[in-house]
Amino acid sequence: MTAQKVLKLSELEQDAAVRVVIDKVPMAVVLDADGEVHAIGDTCTHGDISLAEGFVEGDTLECWAHGSAFSLRTGQPLNLPAYEPVPVYEVTIDGDDILIDPAVTRDVK
Ligand code: FES
Repeated sequence: MTAQKVLKLSELEQDAAVRVVIDKVPMAVVLDADGEVHAIGDTCTHGDISLAEGFVEGDTLECWAHGSAFSLRTGQPLNLPAYEPVPVYEVTIDGDDILIDPAVTRDVK
């Protein structure tokens, strides 16, 4: 599997998440306040809710349903009720293009 172009940087709004699906893998793509782009699994591990419909705060994405905030860097939930992490995908920026490989998850601790 290779990284695929999914979006353009210019299509992202700061502190807002966009849902994309690559090879049937749903992801939430976020441009944070520091200008960094993140891609994490879009489905909350507490319920079948799209995290991209939630709220970006700092380097977290909060599920709107019950308030678990997931780290955009590690995928770990920082508060209950979710306790399982979501995957974190490698993001490559090439000019204005955002490329993500759905088969590669960043090694998180
Ligand atoms: S469904 Fe996301 S915290 Fe409950």
